[in-house]
Order: sequence, then structure tokens, then C-alpha cells
Amino acid sequence: MSSPSIAVATTRARWFAPGRAPRGAHVLARRGAKLGSVVELEDVGIDEAELHERWRRDRPIVLRGVLTPALARHRADVRRSLAFFDRVRDGATWQDELWRRLAVSKEFEPAGASVDLGDARELEKVFAHRRGKRRRIGLDLYGKLSWISVDERDVSLRVRFSFGAEALMEWFDDPSRAVHADAFARAVFPECAVLDGNRALLALVERLLARRVRLSERIVYNNAPGGGAIFHHDAEPWQLGVAYGQFAGETAWFALPKRELAQLVASLAKSPRAKKSFGTPKRALRALDREDASNLARLLNETPALARALVEHGAFYRLKPGDVILMPSHGVDDVCWHSVFALGAKPGLSHSYGLFSARRRRDDPLASARASSPGGETRLST
Ligand SMILES: [Fe+2]
Repeated sequence: MSSPSIAVATTRARWFAPGRAPRGAHVLARRGAKLGSVVELEDVGIDEAELHERWRRDRPIVLRGVLTPALARHRADVRRSLAFFDRVRDGATWQDELWRRLAVSKEFEPAGASVDLGDARELEKVFAHRRGKRRRIGLDLYGKLSWISVDERDVSLRVRFSFGAEALMEWFDDPSRAVHADAFARAVFPECAVLDGNRALLALVERLLARRVRLSERIVYNNAPGGGAIFHHDAEPWQLGVAYGQFAGETAWFALPKRELAQLVASLAKSPRAKKSFGTPKRALRALDREDASNLARLLNETPALARALVEHGAFYRLKPGDVILMPSHGVDDVCWHSVFALGAKPGLSHSYGLFSARRRRDDPLASARASSPGGETRLST
């Protein structure tokens, strides 16, 4: 069977130093760090056999335009969601916004709201129960609104949908409730259907993973100019990977297997201190697990030389509305690491869903591990 759209192996691109962007170049700037700019030359397409090989090797897969027809049908929903995030930045409360969206819903009922004062990024967490015909069938579902970063230069927002007590990692123990959290996300953000109703995309993902898949732990992103996500991974227990769809606006990405990132990092360790902490691929692999390595964080997220190396390595991608990036996760060291930059002058809209086995299997990643490894801002860390 053919792929749903063009699968892109790499984008051939050229990097330019900060302040030297030619006309039409995409400027990589995030939270005050200027990493240069990129001009795309051409996409290099691949066939489905290569897709499987890329997935096995933890490489990202970009599908151009796979969401475009569905996005045309959900244009009004996308507009409403963008306006919602703008209102929140102007001070509207998430609770009011959410229940206004669900005013006619008989399916969900309010179950309170909270703010975690220990989390500087969290704005508000709104809980709901899902009603069945005779009784409640999904308890303590939530949508949590957060800033992406504590850095005030980055006003990107996100909403994550899950259920139960985060501190107890209830989502880890009880996959049967995940379907209700997924339904809650779909009720609040109807444009979820652009991703979860895309049969061609789901069929491709299920062929890649050789199993039935559910799309859970959903996150809706509103990446704002000058913002985005610093380098991180999404290796979580049971999670097989991530599907991220660009609905409005554009994002630039660095995405590559952790082991390849470790090699690039090691090659750029110059000072004695850097050489000691990440001067070999093996040391760099372990250093990527430590959140306290500030010199490594600077190299990963603020150093033009690494941006150049990543572009030359073929790890640069630009997502336009309608594009999807799939990122594999096979374990803590065998996972696609990525870094995201919001492009353009206005905040965008994207949906990012975790890929899980429809029925848990023993060979799911980290099935025996309860805690995920650190890695900066992991997907579920806020
Ligand atoms: Fe991520």
C-alpha cells in the first residue's frame, strides 16, 4: 500500500550564520538565542520500505500535506482555538473558556479546577467526568494549561489532556481511562479529528508499528514567535512514539536519533570541562540524561555551531500547515530527540499525540520502568 503523502527522508538545506540571513531564509531564534538561519534546497522523498528502516533507527518521518484536506474542513475550529489562546494570553481563564466550549455537552460534567503553585509553568488544570447512559464512565479527566517555558520571552502555551493524579502517575497504571481523556480532548478541541480521523495516516502508523494504535496523552500547542521547545525526548513508559501535526503557522525542527545527537555534541566539545563531561559519544549519551549540565544545555540550545552541524547532518525540517512529523521511541537511548522553533509573526496551532498500543504489550518501550528518564522538557513534564 502506498504512503498517504510524500514521506520526506531529509530536507537538503543550507545554514547561514546569525545576522547573515539571505532573503527567504528561516531564522532560528528562540528565547533570545540566535542560532542562524536556514534555506531549504529540496526535500528528499523515500518509499515505504525506507520508512520502516527509519522508524527502526529512531529517525523522524515527515509527511507533507497529509492533513491538508481535513484542515480545510476544520478551518473554523482552528480559528477558534487560535483565538482562545490569544484570549488566555490576555488574561481569560481556562476554566471559563473550556466550559463555554462544552456548554451544550451532555457528555462531560465539571469536576473542579486547580493550580499547582509548585509548577511555575502551570496556569490552570480543569477536571471533568465523562457521563455514560446510566453512570459516570470516565473520572477525573483533565486539561492542563501551561506556559511552555518559565522564560518570559517565550509566550508559547500548551494544553495537555490526561487523567487522575499526576504525582501518582495514574495514566501509567490505567490505560482504560485514556480513551476518556482522548474523548475529552476531542470535545474541547474538535479539530482533533484532523489527526485522529485521518485513516491513511493511522494505517501508515499501524503498519510502521505492526499493531493497532491509540493516540493518547494529547497536547495542543500554541507556539509563539521567538518560542518553542528546547532539545528534549519523549521516551515515556508504554509510549511508542509521537505524531505531531501542524495545523496553523509553521515550525522549524531539529530531529534525530539520540545516539547521532550524542556524536555531534561530542565533536563540538572544545573546553577541558566540556571534553570531560561530553567529549566522547558515550559520555555525551549519558550527559544528555542530566538536566543539570548547563554547559551542555547551552551547546544544545544556544550554540550556532551545533545548529550548523545539525543542518549539515540532515536533521533540519520545516513543518507547514498540513504536515506531520512522526518520531519513534524505542527506549531511553533509542529515541528521536528534537528541538522546535516557532516561525513567522503570529502564534501557530499544532496537535501532538503519543502513540500507544491499543492493547498493552510486553514489548512496549520501558514497559517495566515506572519513571521516565530526565531529558529537559520531556513531552509530559508539564
Ligand atoms: Fe517532544
